Amino acid sequence: MLVTQQKVLRRFWYPVVPADRLATEPLPFTLLNTDLVLFRDSAGKAAALVDRCCHRTARLSKGWVEAGNVVCPYHGWTYAGDGRCVRIPQRPGGDPGKNIAIESFRCTERYGVVWVALEEPLRDIPALPEYDDPAYRRVFEFYEPWEAPGLRIMENSFDNAHFAFVHKESFGIVDEPEPVQPRLEPDPAGFVMYADVPVKNPEIQRGNLGIDADRTVRHYEKTWWMPFSRKMKVTYPNGLVHIIMTLTAPIDDRRSQVIQFLLRSDSEADAPAENLTRFDRQVTHEDMAILEGCDHDVPLSPAGELHMPTDRPGLEMRRMLARLLAEHGEQEVRRGGCSPALLASAAE
Ligand code: FES
Ligand SMILES: [Fe+2]
Repeated sequence: MLVTQQKVLRRFWYPVVPADRLATEPLPFTLLNTDLVLFRDSAGKAAALVDRCCHRTARLSKGWVEAGNVVCPYHGWTYAGDGRCVRIPQRPGGDPGKNIAIESFRCTERYGVVWVALEEPLRDIPALPEYDDPAYRRVFEFYEPWEAPGLRIMENSFDNAHFAFVHKESFGIVDEPEPVQPRLEPDPAGFVMYADVPVKNPEIQRGNLGIDADRTVRHYEKTWWMPFSRKMKVTYPNGLVHIIMTLTAPIDDRRSQVIQFLLRSDSEADAPAENLTRFDRQVTHEDMAILEGCDHDVPLSPAGELHMPTDRPGLEMRRMLARLLAEHGEQEVRRGGCSPALLASAAE
């Protein structure tokens, strides 16, 4: 599936930037090949406009923000958060007249993140009750582009068979490759996967988890936030809860922008944020190294690749995405064109 070719994918909220990075400067962001300028409007609300001035197409993201309006760096035409041109400095009094505007997009803030939907969203951003629960602290981990599509990143997150290989240096048990089978349940966000997975517990994790043993068990409750984000709730035998939010936005067919933060049921005194991030970064770099080498054009039809039982969550994602396309009258677009196999599999 080439994500930029599937129109219905424009109808989801995507996490584009941590909210605190959107301050006084306009920021560029490319979402599904659409170039956006992000800034804070006169009410301090996050705004997203097409990153093209309607005079001579200059990039507004190279301009600046003045009184909550974005100013084009070329000749100074100025736009409000709703896309209206509010000033043309070359005209008497700067009056732009009526009806000059550029395209604006839905933009909101939730969970410390700015989200954009390019078209009327099909569903709201999923609930994350732990975010406002004082029992949890928040730890920001990273914000960066990956050379991998969201679907590969999501499938990897729900794949119990890769730990012994990809994560052999961190938490995978290399000589126990037989994976734990996942249990799936429906969820309004997508689905939830449960699994109890034995893991290696290296030195840094002993401190992070307060578990002084070579091994421990992760009780996973992973929620797929259709289409390309996830909530991974890990509960350890001592009751500690470590939630990893991995939110991704499709830049284009090959790349995703990834935001990761934690919600933890302990305190900084129990485990310094720096050590939590150090271990999670090791793990995510291990995943990234593999995912960036995989083919970006993930087939939705089961016939497109070979599978094993632990691939069920990924296959369920593909099935649900195929159904979404079918419900909106779309065919899967792949590098070679449309995929006829999809129509058959979506109908099953
Ligand atoms: S190109 Fe933007 S004001 Fe001229
Ligand atoms: Fe992984």
